[in-house]
Amino acid sequence: GIVDNQHAIDTEPQYVDAPMTAAAAFLVLTINDGEEAAAKARSVVASTGDLIKDVNIRAADHIFTCNVGISHDAWGRLTDKPLPKELKPFTEIKGSVHTAVATPGDLLFHIRADSVDLVIEFEKLVLEAFGDSVTCVDDVSGFRYFDGRDLLEFIDGTANPEGLALRADTIVGDEDPDYAGGAYVVTQKYLHDLPRWRSESTENQERVIGRTKFDNVELPDAGPADQKSHKTLCTIKDEDGEHDILRDNMPFAVPGKGEYGTYFIGYSRYLWVVEKMLERMFVGDPVGKYDQILDVSRAVTGTTFFVPSREFVKNLDG
Ligand code: HEM
Repeated sequence: GIVDNQHAIDTEPQYVDAPMTAAAAFLVLTINDGEEAAAKARSVVASTGDLIKDVNIRAADHIFTCNVGISHDAWGRLTDKPLPKELKPFTEIKGSVHTAVATPGDLLFHIRADSVDLVIEFEKLVLEAFGDSVTCVDDVSGFRYFDGRDLLEFIDGTANPEGLALRADTIVGDEDPDYAGGAYVVTQKYLHDLPRWRSESTENQERVIGRTKFDNVELPDAGPADQKSHKTLCTIKDEDGEHDILRDNMPFAVPGKGEYGTYFIGYSRYLWVVEKMLERMFVGDPVGKYDQILDVSRAVTGTTFFVPSREFVKNLDG
């Protein structure tokens, strides 16, 4: 009946489960000081769905989606609602050698499309709408690299959940009824030391990642004692079984500046799962045996957001 439909509408996620695409952008903004800026930002965020339609209707034969995320620090400025259960600022993780830094960001727009013009068009529209209510802290344009490889030349995204598992792994449910339909999202911008990576043998590279390079086959950990691969460090198991997240990492590059990177983005129903992965990567398991992907990948940003249901976003403006 009508009641069931209303619940389905209230808890309909944003485009969390959208496919990996040829192009994407990660636009991170802070909201400027003052109630006027907050009010403006609130109304633009609430209109995200309309801005998406504006692009979509003109590109009906294309894939185009956008998710908007709100950080812990911006939550109180944009809503009068309590915080989603697990939402907190990204917390720096200091390993013995590498650090996962925490950086500013109130809003994330994760834009995915099968062509760059749609990505840019949406960014243009949304930034025009915000006017001087926000400051852009980061804007990274990603691209698909051959058969879905990262710039370390490995296929990235294979172990992502699909179908019903995708929803179960990424979308908040009854554990936080007010925020059912939402998802936590963590982002990190990594810069690669490609000369160093390319000086490693393919065999060593495969040991670091935990898969073969050409055909992407999963490998058992066979490195020096206790050194786990990236794949193994990012496998989180407890009494409920394995906890997966949805990654939609994108390569980005400015070759003229020697800049080659991976923009990591992970959606999860439970923030603690991503935090656990990060801890295992940076601190190591056992402690000190950190993820060797970090020897060639430096995290230069780190932010956490909550991507609420569509209806929650729409209703922000009253
Ligand atoms: C697996 C690359 C950062 C979580 C993989 C794989 C590659 C990869 C090539 C194997 C294929 C696949 O299953 O997708 C990278 C690169 C990163 C990065 C280049 C940045 C430099 C991260 C971070 C997290 C993460 C920061 C989590 C906080 C995972 C997970 C898997 C995975 C959960 C699947 C593990 C499994 O097999 O179950 N990554 N990754 N990755 N990565 Fe990453």
